[in-house]
Amino acid sequence: MEITSYEIIGSKEKAVAIIEIPKNLIRKENEIANEIMKRHKHVVSVLKKTSERKSEYRVRNYKLIKGQKNTEVIHKENGCNLKVDPRKVYFSQREGTERLRIAGYTKKNETIMVMFSGIGSFSVNIAKHQKNIKKIISVELNPSAVDYMIENIKLNRSQDKIIPVLGDVKKVCKEWYNKCNRVVMPLPHESWKYIQIALKCLKSTGIIHIYFFDSEKKVERNVKRRIEKLKQKTKKKIIYKIRRVLPYAPGINKYCVDMKLSN
Ligand SMILES: C[S@@+](CC[C@H](N)C(=O)[O-])C[C@H]1O[C@@H](n2cnc3c(N)ncnc32)[C@H](O)[C@@H]1O
Repeated sequence: MEITSYEIIGSKEKAVAIIEIPKNLIRKENEIANEIMKRHKHVVSVLKKTSERKSEYRVRNYKLIKGQKNTEVIHKENGCNLKVDPRKVYFSQREGTERLRIAGYTKKNETIMVMFSGIGSFSVNIAKHQKNIKKIISVELNPSAVDYMIENIKLNRSQDKIIPVLGDVKKVCKEWYNKCNRVVMPLPHESWKYIQIALKCLKSTGIIHIYFFDSEKKVERNVKRRIEKLKQKTKKKIIYKIRRVLPYAPGINKYCVDMKLSN
């Protein structure tokens, strides 16, 4: 049977499959779920996406089409264990490579601000990869995600490195103004709104990784315009690189700009 795209979150012990079913295949959804569970013996539940990502928490609705009601799993990625229930919080296993890449950039003794940190996936990857990190401040609004983040910090023995913070980036970052070497901003649908806060978090020099959606045709021009404005406002030198992270929709991708600010 031809099965449409799906992702599997979890481990060999227990995993959940998340599937998109186009309208013309809805009548076959049970058959599709059976086939997935036959192919992947560790999949204990199959969830069908029934909405887009929504609300500030960036979660979506799912319908359980087959298997266990309890969809909490421990997802293994890059040597990290990430406990997550995809029905309660944002999580995408497709971004594991990107998290490792950011972790690979970090240097010893850095203080890092991870805004919009979800279940702590970026923070745990960084702490695992860069043993000599100073501190990682992880700010997240969704209380369920912060509960998972606290568990994940313990699961990965990073209590001395990661500081979980429940709250809105707009309100809770002040304590770390002028203290960070690096800021990570994984909120692609509106991260540019928070760029001024990220700049305030940085010491006089530093690095920002900002994620956003943009059109293939316009991204270079749009980013150049934004960087010019930032240069004027901060009076700093900024060198930057645009990277395509993942496809999002026809002609639209998720991008990351890595920018380095210096005097
Ligand atoms: C796209 S998800 C990324 C989660 C995580 N970094 C990851 O890669 O798995 C964005 C997260 O930002 C959180 N969020 C949205 N607005 C926020 C705000 N103003 N302050 C703090 N967190 C926010 C959402 O609850 C959500 O968990």
